Amino acid sequence: MPTPSNPLKAVRGTRDLLPPETALWNRVESIARSVFSRYGFGEIRTPIFEDTQLFARGVGEETDIVSKEMYTWSDGERFDEAALIDAWTVQGEAEKRFTQVGGPFTEPFRRMGVQKLVTLRDPAKLDCPVFVCFRQSVTREVVDLLRKASDFFRTDAALGQFSDIIYLRKFAIHLRVVVPSGAKRPAWIETDGIEIEEVSGEFFRSSQSLTLRPENTAGVVRAYIEHKLGDSGQLQKLFYIGPQFRRERPQRGRYRQFWQIGVEVLGPVTSGSESPLRDAEVLEMLATLLDELGVKNWQLALNSVGSATDRPRYVAALKAALAPIKHQLCEDNQRRAETNPLRVLDSKDPNDQALIETLPRIADFLDDSSRDHFAQVRAALDACGVPYTVNPRLVRGLDYYTRTTFEFTVPSSGDPASGLGTQNALLGGGRYDGLSEMLGGPRAPGIGFAIGEDRLILTLQAQAGAPGLASETWETKLDAYIAPMGTERNAAALALARELRRAGLSVEVGDGTFRLKKSFEAADRVARHIVILGEDELASGILTLKTFATGLQTKIARNELAQSLRA
Ligand code: HAM
Repeated sequence: MPTPSNPLKAVRGTRDLLPPETALWNRVESIARSVFSRYGFGEIRTPIFEDTQLFARGVGEETDIVSKEMYTWSDGERFDEAALIDAWTVQGEAEKRFTQVGGPFTEPFRRMGVQKLVTLRDPAKLDCPVFVCFRQSVTREVVDLLRKASDFFRTDAALGQFSDIIYLRKFAIHLRVVVPSGAKRPAWIETDGIEIEEVSGEFFRSSQSLTLRPENTAGVVRAYIEHKLGDSGQLQKLFYIGPQFRRERPQRGRYRQFWQIGVEVLGPVTSGSESPLRDAEVLEMLATLLDELGVKNWQLALNSVGSATDRPRYVAALKAALAPIKHQLCEDNQRRAETNPLRVLDSKDPNDQALIETLPRIADFLDDSSRDHFAQVRAALDACGVPYTVNPRLVRGLDYYTRTTFEFTVPSSGDPASGLGTQNALLGGGRYDGLSEMLGGPRAPGIGFAIGEDRLILTLQAQAGAPGLASETWETKLDAYIAPMGTERNAAALALARELRRAGLSVEVGDGTFRLKKSFEAADRVARHIVILGEDELASGILTLKTFATGLQTKIARNELAQSLRA
């Protein structure tokens, strides 16, 4: 039990976002929304949990995300008591054979999940009435309750209340718990007086494996397929802002619940979804967004991982090159060399870097069309003046990527200005031309990215003074603080606040118990002006207004106050 010295805390890897920092989050999101709308994007909101298969198929079983980091549970598994009753009785006989037992034990049984406690009308060959209770498993609670019930029914208290059991006094009562075969039967159980009957069959309504989304691209493509968004023939330009979940080792910039701001551009080939222009436009938009947010020194790393046909050739070459050297790699990389050799390339293990450098490069395995596509992306970026470097090892940790992949980073781990520690990827993305088909949909090439919003905020805070996001612009002060002098003025203060707030001003109301000095201190912390509301002020309608920035104190008519505060 939590105690005052040991209160409950937010779960490891999750955190609360509090004001005034949330104002910065809102500011970032509103700049993102503004940029996205200028590029013709509309918002999509997909569910926070999805069928586990979506990620297994979309992101890839062998990726770290799917194999180690997902929050997955089995949902909807329900014990089907009616099925157990049916299996235990002759088909359709149930109603004929049972009498529902009422009385004081109905409710406690029901609370334990026992829906039906019955007596047999015709206790067959047994020479005593039988109480039957249907359970998913045998627990101490059930056994205790059955014992209590049998004691109860054996006493005179029961007589007269239950016509069925008037004769019970003369007999022993037979108690029986009917459970599905294989049901939990704990070691402590003493079955004397209680018969446990096992019935085999399917008594659990089928369950579904669900997962908290570790990323949003698969969900967006699922929604694209489900709502037949491709049928319009138009390019779909969608953005999202929301939490994602990965069970990673928490550290600065890496959380188990984190936020992403992302976009996906996809559609049928005829909508131009495959065009390198789309890749360049998305990257150029990102550059604009980061500039408008005031992120300094961002770097764009770019690569092409080739088409669905290039990749298998490259993966085969990589496997062949890894075979003779893999025993020299770390344990994780040895496993990856077998299961998903591309993942070796983005390994961060310092001891393996020299060997990784010797591995074949994807650039040498691109077919003509992939090479041409990549060249056109770069040419369009050059034309827009968006700087980038090509990083031939950038393969990214999700399996759906084809052709263009990219990451934006801020200066590396050693530089405290990045604010990210070792987690310096601010955002990542790429093209996923085969994802829709992998999820059972029509051909719908696409490209997108997701910004780690937590990392973006850390970066902005570390790079304090970023234009447009200096702390004074998000930690804005209220227009006025109304200080009632004495509790008798509280109501009038609230009425004045209502007037000003309805006139569009931001206002805080103090409390009449505060001394004048305390009111001034409180007001100075949160507002640009203080309005004093004392007996004289209320009587005369002439209020005292002080502006903290100038120290100026003036008298002002109540009906001019809103105007003056606005000015
Ligand atoms: P991702 O690279 O897995 O890509 O994640 C994108 C960004 O989310 C990362 O660059 C990072 O900033 C942030 N991020 C990831 N994990 C964490 C974490 N545990 N804590 C804090 N931030 C984190 C994707 O998710 C793809 N869906 C991106 C995409 C969209 N590709 C195409 N379209």
